[in-house]
Amino acid sequence: MSESQIPLLHVSDVTLAYGRTVIVDRVKFSIPDGPSGMALIGESGSGKSTIARAVLGLLPIKSGSIRVAGKDVARMSRAERKTYRSTLQPVFQDGTEVLDPRMTIRSCLREALGVVGREQHDDLVADLLVDVGLGPELMARHPHELSGGQRQRVAIARALATRPRLLVLDEPTSALDVTVQAKVLDLFERLQAEHSLSFLLITHNLSIVDRLCDEAAVISQGRIVEHGSTESVLHDPQHAYTKKLISSIPRLAAAY
Ligand SMILES: Nc1ncnc2c1ncn2[C@@H]1O[C@H](COP(=O)(O)OP(=O)(O)OP(=O)(O)O)[C@@H](O)[C@H]1O
Ligand SMILES: [Mg+2]
Repeated sequence: MSESQIPLLHVSDVTLAYGRTVIVDRVKFSIPDGPSGMALIGESGSGKSTIARAVLGLLPIKSGSIRVAGKDVARMSRAERKTYRSTLQPVFQDGTEVLDPRMTIRSCLREALGVVGREQHDDLVADLLVDVGLGPELMARHPHELSGGQRQRVAIARALATRPRLLVLDEPTSALDVTVQAKVLDLFERLQAEHSLSFLLITHNLSIVDRLCDEAAVISQGRIVEHGSTESVLHDPQHAYTKKLISSIPRLAAAY
């Protein structure tokens, strides 16, 4: 396989458990280099966030393997692990999960950039803020002095600081007001193209899947039951579970 054909992320027959309880059963999928996107959809409790945690290296794998750019995550050297950590970055539902309430936005982004305490790096912090559509003047504020949408943009800026190739987006807009959701979605679309990012997207909002992902996998009780192009999965679902799932999720109309 030539280097360009090696998937950025390759999840191969991965089984995941909390204690002895198996939650995810022999799941496999891969995500190519960006710009690309794959969606994981499924009902609450089906194991989506558990897969995201394992991909991010936050949960050990019971069996199977996860490869990032061809390297098995479980067999990485310390240096390779460091690269892997910066290659993949998470964006969760609500910026508050990754933003320390006691730190200014400046300190938080400096930390993510790895330039802690060096005054002269304000320009790098400002670049990050501008990239996510925020004014550099926000860097002096604390997270509680921002709106929910601004906080999520800062969380996205923080994720971009290490120049990742893949963002793991777990319900990245669901805590936001509908009009703000539309703007953050525009931002993701622009960043995906401009930075050639790949997304692993978990969401209940099928409009976002349509916009950001070329592929979608449907998960039920820890197993992938349907997987294909977004077009086929969302608009011509084959599996009874997918049909039920899609009809149960309200489509957000006008704003998109
Ligand atoms: N830390 C944990 N310890 C034990 N069980 C857990 C833990 N985290 C999640 N679970 C269980 O694993 C299953 C899958 O949870 P997971 O968070 O992956 O679901 P999900 O698909 O992300 O759901 P949602 O759409 O509600 O976020 C659930 O039954 C949940 O109760
Ligand atoms: Mg979840």
